[in-house]
Amino acid sequence: MPRTVYVNGDYLPESEGKISIFDRGFLFADGVYEVTAVVNGKLVDYPAHMERLGRSLKELRMDWPCSREEIDAMHQEMIRRNDLREGIIYMQVTRGSADRSFNFPKPAPAPTLIAFTQVMALVSNPNAVTGVKAVTTPDLRWARRDIKTVMLLAPVLGKQEAYEKGAHEAWMVEDGFVTEGTSSNAYIVKDGKVITRGISNEILAGCTRRALFRLAKEHGVEIVERQFTPAEAYAADEAFLTSASQFVMPVVEIDGRRIGGGQPGPVVRRLRALFLEEAGA
Ligand code: PDD
Repeated sequence: MPRTVYVNGDYLPESEGKISIFDRGFLFADGVYEVTAVVNGKLVDYPAHMERLGRSLKELRMDWPCSREEIDAMHQEMIRRNDLREGIIYMQVTRGSADRSFNFPKPAPAPTLIAFTQVMALVSNPNAVTGVKAVTTPDLRWARRDIKTVMLLAPVLGKQEAYEKGAHEAWMVEDGFVTEGTSSNAYIVKDGKVITRGISNEILAGCTRRALFRLAKEHGVEIVERQFTPAEAYAADEAFLTSASQFVMPVVEIDGRRIGGGQPGPVVRRLRALFLEEAGA
C-alpha cells in the first residue's frame, strides 16, 4: 500500500508528493523538522514537539506555515489515512521556494509544509532487548544544535561511520566531552545516578529527554546534568540514548568496550518500561 503524504494542504499518494527544485530546504537546508512517535495510533509527547517546533521556527525567523490547529489536524489525518498504529510522523517546514539568493526572499514566499509517516516497531524493538553499540566521533556540527534544522550532513556522516563500524549510533565528542548522538541524546549511569549533558545550544533539547526527566523525578531516579567524557562512559555501569524513534534505548558497547557487562542494566530497563507505559504501549 503506498502511503498518503502531505504537501502544503494536500493529501497525496507518496509518488505524487513533490516540491520545487527552488525550495530553500533543498538549496540551503533552510528549514526545520519534527519527528513524533505514534503508539497504538496515538501521538507520543506531541505538545512538546509542537513547542520545540515553535521555538525552532522563531530562532530562524520563520512563520508558522499554518495554524497550530491545522498542524494538529494534519497529524491526526495522517494517522487515519495511513492507518498508522506504530511508527513515526515526520514533518518539515521550510522558508519556501524562491529564486536562489542567500538572504530571505522578499516578498516572503509561502512556507513549505510536508509530512509523511513511517511504520516502525517502536515498542517491541529488538534492539531494546540486546542493547545497541555506539562509537565516538568528532562533533562537526554548527553552533546552533538547539534548533532542529534539516541541516543533517554531519549526523549523516557520523551515523554512516557508526554503521560501517558495526554500531548503531555515533556519540559526538567536542572539547573532550560527549555532546549527544547523531539523532539522539546520550546518557550514562554511575552508582544509580543518570548523567547527561545539560541543555544549551550545543545539543538538541530532546522531547524524549524531557519526558524521561519527568518520569525519573516521579519515580525517584536521580539525574545529574553535566558533561561526561568517552573515558567516563567506558567505565559507566550503564549507558543509553533517547529519541522519539527509539524511546529509551540501552547502549551496551562504546568504541568496542563493553558497558556494564554488555547487557542492558536495571536503570535503563526501568526507565524504558516507564516510558512505554506512559506512551500507552
Ligand atoms: N532525532 N539529538 C539529536 C541531534 C536528534 O536529532 C534527536 C532526534 C534527539 C532526540 O530528540 P527527541 O527525543 O525529541 O526525538 C537528540 C530525530 C528522532 C530524527 O532526526 O530522526
